[in-house]
Amino acid sequence: MAPVDPEFVAAAHALDADGWCWIPQFLESAPTDALATECAALHDANLLLPAGTGATRTVSTARGDRTRWFNADALSGPQRTFADRIDALRVAFNRHLMLGLVDSESHYAVYRPGAVYARHLDRLRNDDSRVVSCVFYLNRDWHEADGGALRLHLPGGSFQDIYPHAGGLVAFLSGSFEHEVRPATRDRMSIACWMRQRPIDARR
Ligand code: OGA
Ligand code: MN
Repeated sequence: MAPVDPEFVAAAHALDADGWCWIPQFLESAPTDALATECAALHDANLLLPAGTGATRTVSTARGDRTRWFNADALSGPQRTFADRIDALRVAFNRHLMLGLVDSESHYAVYRPGAVYARHLDRLRNDDSRVVSCVFYLNRDWHEADGGALRLHLPGGSFQDIYPHAGGLVAFLSGSFEHEVRPATRDRMSIACWMRQRPIDARR
């Protein structure tokens, strides 16, 4: 078996101990910038669509981002770099936590200034295939005064704010943490990704 990146081993330990982890440099700045450039160009070309919530993907004020799914059969160069790295992280999580993560799905997301995603859980009713939620951030020179934190609600009623700094990736157990996206004063770009186990009907 290929050796696992030591940073990913540490992330797997943190995910195991705390249910979430932060990897400050998941990708270096060149591939991160390439993803940011691509995301901004797709957004400018109006190719991101208003996102919905729940099984019927209803568009509402609860969620103000626009998204575009990666097509696994037609990844761009920057998307391929991201997908390969996510796959390495998925393998590291499987080795350490034995989560049975078989694949992942990813989309770009852009929140315009003031847009939010109200407090929610990343699991659809009757579908527990999403096990680990990851968000990779694309925003150079982000400051806390810009807002836009991901607020993770922790057991016991406290919360952890995570700012969307370029190159950083947060991962957390999808079924365990309610979370929300706070409003920002500037455009906020990311890639949201879910690592999945086999769906219920295919697990017997
Ligand atoms: C989501 C989500 C968090 C973020 O897309 O489900 O919670 O920080 N995103 O963008
Ligand atoms: Mn979410």
